[in-house]
Amino acid sequence: ANILVLNGPNLNLLGVREPGLYGSQSLGDIESALDAKARALGCHLDFFQSNAEHELIGRIHQAFRESVDFILINPGAFTHTSIALRDAFLATRIPFIEVHLSNIHAREPFRKHSYLSDIAKGVICGFGGLGYELALNAALKILEAG
Ligand code: DQA
Repeated sequence: ANILVLNGPNLNLLGVREPGLYGSQSLGDIESALDAKARALGCHLDFFQSNAEHELIGRIHQAFRESVDFILINPGAFTHTSIALRDAFLATRIPFIEVHLSNIHAREPFRKHSYLSDIAKGVICGFGGLGYELALNAALKILEAG
């Protein structure tokens, strides 16, 4: 399988950014652990992080052209603001899982709403970097089941 792992704004600062909330692992640490796991399972991952909404949307369009099978996305704060990201998923119909390191339901009320959750295959939040691995497992099961 061909899976794209997208990370949105400020996630390039993982490890440095509010470590009590988001953990001490860098995005690079999370990505290399995930890549090792994917390789062991015979799955190919591509990684992309951007702080810019249009770049994330452009990368989803590219994934559509490349017939990517599935997307794992932590949209960062765009979760709570971006109708455009939602529309990119509606337009391309690439199945995806929404991932958050923190439990967005245990934080400020404005983080409870996501523009993506209702069109995602599922949502994983509150498990730190482990969430990406759980999402990968789920994505592979979903793809296996066809
Ligand atoms: C986040 C949660 C968002 O509310 C926040 O804006 C982020 C990170 C998470 O991984 O917990 O940037 O997506």
